[in-house]
Amino acid sequence: MLVLGIDTSCDDTAAGVVRLSASGPALVLSNEVATQHDLHAAFQGVVPEIASRAHTERVTLVIQRALAKAGVTLADLDALAVTYRPGLVGALMVGVTAAKALSLVTGLPLIGVDHIEAHAIAARADHPDLAYPFVALVVSGGHTALYACRGPQDIERLGGTVDDAAGECFDKVAVLLGLPQPGGPQVSRLAQEGNPKAVAFPRARIEGAPLDLSFSGLKTAVLYYLKGAGGRRDAPDRGDLPCSYADVAASFEQAVVDCLVDRALKAAAREGVSALVVGGGVAANRVLRRDLVLRAPAGLTVRFPSLALCADNGAMIALRGGELLALGLRSGLDLDVVPTT
Ligand code: KG4
Ligand code: ZN
Repeated sequence: MLVLGIDTSCDDTAAGVVRLSASGPALVLSNEVATQHDLHAAFQGVVPEIASRAHTERVTLVIQRALAKAGVTLADLDALAVTYRPGLVGALMVGVTAAKALSLVTGLPLIGVDHIEAHAIAARADHPDLAYPFVALVVSGGHTALYACRGPQDIERLGGTVDDAAGECFDKVAVLLGLPQPGGPQVSRLAQEGNPKAVAFPRARIEGAPLDLSFSGLKTAVLYYLKGAGGRRDAPDRGDLPCSYADVAASFEQAVVDCLVDRALKAAAREGVSALVVGGGVAANRVLRRDLVLRAPAGLTVRFPSLALCADNGAMIALRGGELLALGLRSGLDLDVVPTT
């Protein structure tokens, strides 16, 4: 089954073609992404109106590129998959409308895909042996949560952040450290030169909710560490900063990773699964990858997607769509967008 997957949920216009087979591994034939980082850079966040307009401008071109890279045409496809939730409403509408128009003119079956569920199963492209049940840690700029994935249609949220997403926290700390967006990879790069034990940043716990996370206190702790207690974001750094920005970056990164690893391992133990899967942009983080593997108990295998399948992409939408289509599920041409999880 040859599936085209489309994602326009946030600030990346993405399309990918995946060949799925009942017996063998899925093959990613193309995975094209047009990022909008430059368009939003001046605003320190994604501006929904700008995102929707940029998707409108690019979506058909990115689809065309994905088909060309895969060496296929619309006539070769068996199905279309598109993200319909969650995300920015106007941004989602662009991808969904493009997919519905293609379905209308080609007659191809259409399936709406949940973006988070696609992140949760993205690693299956690289690890075809990965079977249900497993626990997934989805950790991105918009979401940070744990899921019990018991079957393609049995995915339950076990816990997650009660405030900021981990990637969002990386992005905000990058601003404090004067680094460009998206901040995660920048903070992580700087952290390589620092001491993760230099600053004892807090690791928040939520009373009575052992699988939940909170990052807003950590973000404020970094702010106050740099500016002094009660310091504002636009204030100059305090004069007596006892360590380097690299030390701050490394200590912050370690605090985020410690929290994520702790909750992910707890969730895997609670569910009694033998596989833990990570997905989302922050799954690219080198310390998270290292520590999860180091701290996983015997009998628990940790699986990460390849880097191209961590961040938002169309191939993971095709992969998840293919899984649902194989169960006989379809969406109608009245498929609507849902901004929330
Ligand atoms: O999944 P994604 O591409 O988009 C969302 O659905 O949010 O994730 C983007 C997020 C950004 O916050 C980015 O800073 C973060 O993932 N990120 C990282 C790394 N690479 C990307 N955070 C930490 N370390 C990284 N290496
Ligand atoms: Zn995402």
